[in-house]
Amino acid sequence: PGWNPNPQEGIGGRNMKNWRLGHLAAALLLAAFSECAMMAEESPETAVTIHADRPGAVINKNVYGQFSEHLGSGIYGGIFVGEDSPIPNTRGFRNDVIAALKELKVPMVRWPGGCFADEYHWRDGIGPRDKRPIRINTNWGGVSENNAFGTHEFFDFVDMIGADAYVNANVGTGSPQEAARWLEYMTGEQDTTLVRERRANGRDKPWKVSIYAMGNETWGCGGNMRPEYYADLYNQYAAFMKTQPGAMPELLASGDHDDQTAFTTALMTHVRSRMDAISLHYYTILGPRWENKDTATGFTEAGWINTLANTLKMDGFIKKQDALLSDFEKARSGMQSRKMGLYVDEWGTWYKPEPGSNPGFLVQQNTLRDAVVAAANFNIFHKYADRVRMTAIAQTVNVLQAMILTDGPKMIRTPTYHVFHMYRPFQNAASLPLEIRTGEYRYDQWSVPQVSASAAKAVDGSIVIGLANLDPRRTASVSAAIEGARISQITGEILTAEEMDAHNTFENPNALHPEVFTGAKMDGPRLEVTLPAKSVVVLKLQ
Ligand code: AHR
Repeated sequence: PGWNPNPQEGIGGRNMKNWRLGHLAAALLLAAFSECAMMAEESPETAVTIHADRPGAVINKNVYGQFSEHLGSGIYGGIFVGEDSPIPNTRGFRNDVIAALKELKVPMVRWPGGCFADEYHWRDGIGPRDKRPIRINTNWGGVSENNAFGTHEFFDFVDMIGADAYVNANVGTGSPQEAARWLEYMTGEQDTTLVRERRANGRDKPWKVSIYAMGNETWGCGGNMRPEYYADLYNQYAAFMKTQPGAMPELLASGDHDDQTAFTTALMTHVRSRMDAISLHYYTILGPRWENKDTATGFTEAGWINTLANTLKMDGFIKKQDALLSDFEKARSGMQSRKMGLYVDEWGTWYKPEPGSNPGFLVQQNTLRDAVVAAANFNIFHKYADRVRMTAIAQTVNVLQAMILTDGPKMIRTPTYHVFHMYRPFQNAASLPLEIRTGEYRYDQWSVPQVSASAAKAVDGSIVIGLANLDPRRTASVSAAIEGARISQITGEILTAEEMDAHNTFENPNALHPEVFTGAKMDGPRLEVTLPAKSVVVLKLQ
């Protein structure tokens, strides 16, 4: 109506006015129509090819590792409440949190830090609890640290959830001797004074330490060191880490962050002692400055896409490190049978702390955006399965991009928890080569690929596919050729919501949870998936 004015009806006067009005209405309608068309705009089809007949490197289960530091209520209150707590516990460990982590199949936990590790002296955390010294946690809020959670408690914790242990030694304020004696205390089986002490403290058999790290962020809180200085220190420390045959952990050097490469370069150039892997830290932080971080909830679409664009930088950072390591390896060809590991042992989102919380405790809510961040990171890690054999998200409970949030006796699983749960079949699966052609999701100054994906052959023989639609407005149609496999059954789970910042709360703990996904079907040899906007989907094909 009002469209198609007839200028023949007259020039000027009422008709001319009508004509102008008609044009105005037409223009408005056209604008409204284009707006609607834009909103309903179909995104270009995402074309994927998965080579099921060419399994590559195994995705080490430790890629799904966790980081638990003495920071805020990451351990005290979140994991360990003590035997006398009214919160239901076993030997002081929260029953609810232990059960949730067990269900997550956490493969490995990194402890005791982080920055905390370089001021931690392990002898403070053994023996009768009431005799343990009280220190100040200078890194995180300046609160008292009573050392109630020490070496025995850590191993009790990882045993309870079925995880392996990654212990971070103190280089910043420790000594090679202190680190060597801790290793002996944990892993020794000969009759020594330290082993007797461990036994007297209640642990007869040695524990298994899977990874022993020499320092943390030595370029920063770990001592503000120059790369060459740390490389020398690393040589010295690593030379004295000894235990009986079969009990030696992997030794991990503290490496670079973000796009930096100076530490990897110095370590690869100067280290002569045993070194199994080098770490890389990268947090998704909206800048440009640390003070300008985004809020965990109530963000705009700019905050959504900016976060995802920053997350995807992980790919380039790993690629750069991988190329650098490969160059060193090629130059020494024949000397090494196994690739140097690149362990991303701190990653995740870092937002402004929740209003009212202690800013030193790094408490933040966790939304659908974090779930998409986690899936996008997993899809990147899987691409580098032969190099990235371990990662640890920061952190397990109540800190940064946590799996679990607690408030006194209450506990909630976050959207990130659910994505870790959905991706469990990728643990120890063989990565499958995947090619993807996807459209762009653009907003303001940012642009990211609409769909992120990875695939693997799971240990049960099924093909698992992880998909994330980064676009918060448009559905993605994914059409995948699965080469070298006949598919007769598809099952799947999806995590999505109406709001970009959908999250669980203590009042509504199950607002966001995975649901059965029915948007995938085989069409002849092709897998067709309708991937809702802002969603994470994991499919299992048999
Ligand atoms: O995860 C919080 C902190 O971030 C760690 O203690 C430190 O290593 C990093 O800077």
